[in-house]
Amino acid sequence: MKKISVLFVCLGNICRSPAAEAIFISLLEKKGLTDGFIVDSAGTGSWHIGKRADSRMRIAAERRDINILSKARQITSEDFEEFNYIIAMDDSNFRNIQDFKNRTASAGFASIKKIQDFRSVFNEQEVPDPYFGGNEGFDYVLDILEDSVNGFLESIS
Ligand code: 4NP
Repeated sequence: MKKISVLFVCLGNICRSPAAEAIFISLLEKKGLTDGFIVDSAGTGSWHIGKRADSRMRIAAERRDINILSKARQITSEDFEEFNYIIAMDDSNFRNIQDFKNRTASAGFASIKKIQDFRSVFNEQEVPDPYFGGNEGFDYVLDILEDSVNGFLESIS
């Protein structure tokens, strides 16, 4: 059977989208669905290409037994052809993804969505950027994402 491919996208690809990616992978493992999916993350910006996720996010995730292993990359026009779903963390990412797609005249049928459209417990309409804040912001992002990433998986499986 053809795999379902999912790309999570934020600004820097070092905090929110790598966390969403790792939470999604962990959920797939728990549900025995790993083989049916291709999962990745990317940033709309280029500042952190090649870097591992922010250590504050990695440490917060490890406390929940979630390992963030990805290295940052920037979204490319091919992503619109290679992924079934491109999932933005906030409204600005969502607009930037659409602008990028139009600017690069990318073909492809990727469905572009916002992760918080799949929320059920938390009311946040966007995943707040934790980068310039304190440690508690990273835990809050994980709380929000554990809810909405689960909702996203349920919506497609
Ligand atoms: P992210 O967070 O988009 O969740 O990876 C950010 C990381 C870095 C920057 C901004 C947001 N930055 O300005 O470098």
